[in-house]
Amino acid sequence: MIDDILIRELITAADEARSRSYAPYSNYAVGAALLTGDGRIITGCNMENAAFGPGICAERCAVYKAVSEGCRDFTAIAVAGSPVGEPISQFASPCGVCRQVMREFTDPADFIVIVAGPDGRYKVNTLEELLPDSFGPDNLG
Ligand code: THU
Repeated sequence: MIDDILIRELITAADEARSRSYAPYSNYAVGAALLTGDGRIITGCNMENAAFGPGICAERCAVYKAVSEGCRDFTAIAVAGSPVGEPISQFASPCGVCRQVMREFTDPADFIVIVAGPDGRYKVNTLEELLPDSFGPDNLG
């Protein structure tokens, strides 16, 4: 199980990535920090687009960065989201699409999702708790 010190390190990395968010349309900044099986931290931030559709969430940004660099072994992800210019003022749980993308590369019973909140608080769940009875690679044999 992941300890408080590592959780806070991941949240700090997610919040740093959040500062690089490009969100001029929603004014909602999200950062994510993905912990790999060999202990590396790969970050992502949300990136919006004038055409709206091409925008991407912070969590998928981190997963796609990792996979494109050859890593598919993930232990946990921390997410920090709140309106631009505010410190972390709310719990921003990953959207359904991002949950499904995490599902592709993880065992949902083991993969840990940390959601940062106000005043240094956080929530910890397994991916299975956030995405029960999921569809995954095993369904396709
Ligand atoms: N967003 C994320 O980055 N992650 C989520 O899980 C939910 C939403 C982003 C997308 C968009 O840029 C902004 O937050 C508002 O929806």
